[in-house]
Amino acid sequence: MESFEKLPSHVSIIMDGNGRWAQRHSLPRFKGHYEGVESVRAVVECCCELGIPYLSLFAFSEENWNRPQDEVSRLMELFALSMKNELNNFIKNGVRFVVLGNRERFSENLNSAIDEMMRSTAAGSALTLVVFLSYSGRWDILQAARKLAVTHPDGNFGMEEISSALVTSRIPDPDLLIRTSGEMRISNYMLWQLSYTEIVVVDTLWPDFRKTSFLDALREYEKRDRRFGKVK
Ligand code: FPP
Repeated sequence: MESFEKLPSHVSIIMDGNGRWAQRHSLPRFKGHYEGVESVRAVVECCCELGIPYLSLFAFSEENWNRPQDEVSRLMELFALSMKNELNNFIKNGVRFVVLGNRERFSENLNSAIDEMMRSTAAGSALTLVVFLSYSGRWDILQAARKLAVTHPDGNFGMEEISSALVTSRIPDPDLLIRTSGEMRISNYMLWQLSYTEIVVVDTLWPDFRKTSFLDALREYEKRDRRFGKVK
């Protein structure tokens, strides 16, 4: 494995372009999502090899519920299936699996698969893999505001309390955000947490994004000069 002078502690990815990949291969859209799972596997493996402690993936946004019913069902099936398939692998490699998002609309089946997966991998200490499912940044801020309205009705709270009320409270803010398929948008992802994250947009479609593309994105990050609004 290559060596890097500087690596991010938390890489987050907006995995985009599965539909277009399928279209280009004259396949139904869901085949793009299935192929996308292979890219997830490749990137997880890379993080484990390099010792990157946090990887998060935007797998399903709140807005994605508005896709055709058939695609939504197929995606839900794929999430449940992938968890089942990867469980032993994750335990073996010390991957702690965490799902964050609004789980109210998931089937009982999917919710129990998620709980089981999170319970069985809770001791993993090599990589925390966060999968954002039914998540949106505005929803996260709203649920945090609702909590704070109860715990701090006098309005006497600061940035720290807001960070702690978000669903990501136990996860550090991302250092690097990668978005595939050339789209230059945040798409209602971690709006609060991405304040000082370095962004790398690549043209590659998610199912084609494998080890080499990931290493290229890390090289790009290595060149960035992070000043957090200060002067060097
Ligand atoms: C965006 O491509 C991708 C998604 C909405 C689904 C992402 C899900 C996976 C890759 C499945 C595996 C994930 C896990 C964690 C098991 P798109 O459909 O918006 O593509 P398009 O913009 O080309 O239509």
